[in-house]
Amino acid sequence: MEDEYIPRPEGELPRHVAIIMDGNGRWATRRNLPRIAGHKAGEAAITDVVRAASEWGIEALTLFAFSTENWNRPENEVQFLMSFNRNLLEQRVEEFHRRNIRIRHLGRRDRIPPSTLKAIDDATNLTRNNTGMQLNIAFNYGGRAEIVDAVRRVCAEAREGRLDPRDLDEETFRKYLYLPDMPDPDLLIRTAGEMRISNFLLWELAYTEIYCTEVLWPDFRRRHLAEAIREYQRRERKFGRVKEE
Ligand code: IPE
Ligand code: IPE
Ligand code: MG
Repeated sequence: MEDEYIPRPEGELPRHVAIIMDGNGRWATRRNLPRIAGHKAGEAAITDVVRAASEWGIEALTLFAFSTENWNRPENEVQFLMSFNRNLLEQRVEEFHRRNIRIRHLGRRDRIPPSTLKAIDDATNLTRNNTGMQLNIAFNYGGRAEIVDAVRRVCAEAREGRLDPRDLDEETFRKYLYLPDMPDPDLLIRTAGEMRISNFLLWELAYTEIYCTEVLWPDFRRRHLAEAIREYQRRERKFGRVKEE
């Protein structure tokens, strides 16, 4: 199917958009289909949103594809998600590379099957020097795990005498997160009506604008992304300060 043409939203775009892609299971259940059919249908949403975001000039897009808690799903669904994400990456990486998109992974590497890890690493390596949009794939990602992993590295450096804990501040701590050079997300989108963070980017979302929509992920398209951006542009970001006159 052709991508719908939606012009780049006018005005200042969020530099970094993060998305909790939710509602695949409900999309399928409503159609009397197995949950897996919902994940498959979500692929069209992923490609449309990635294309639009990079065409519009958004600097970074972070997609939550599999959480550290998603291991608690039925084994067949977990297995499906491992191979589905591997296939999706393998099939799309050439196109994303042509679009000058740089792909990166955030999350723990343990437990991910080797073939899925290879697809992630191949995509990362192929697109390493691209200068267009940065596409971050949160896979086996948990916000608490990210903070714990950072603290472990901080402790190791302190033990080896390379870091004085008294020098640790928010800026230094950030360097130990999975993607230290990423600006914090400006806009977080969550689909399917849920209003929770579900352990996504706990550190990075401190001052992010949150946008929730009832649209289920498989139905989400660039026009919904444009709507989220327009809503974001109407917000007033205060960062704890008083209203700017
Ligand atoms: C999001 O859709 C995909 C993943 C979490 C991997 P869900 O599978 O969570 O869909 P619902 O929430 O059950 O509808
Ligand atoms: C969050 O969605 C994780 C991903 C989108 C990958 P979930 O569907 O797992 O979150 P909960 O369980 O509803 O909080
Ligand atoms: Mg869900």
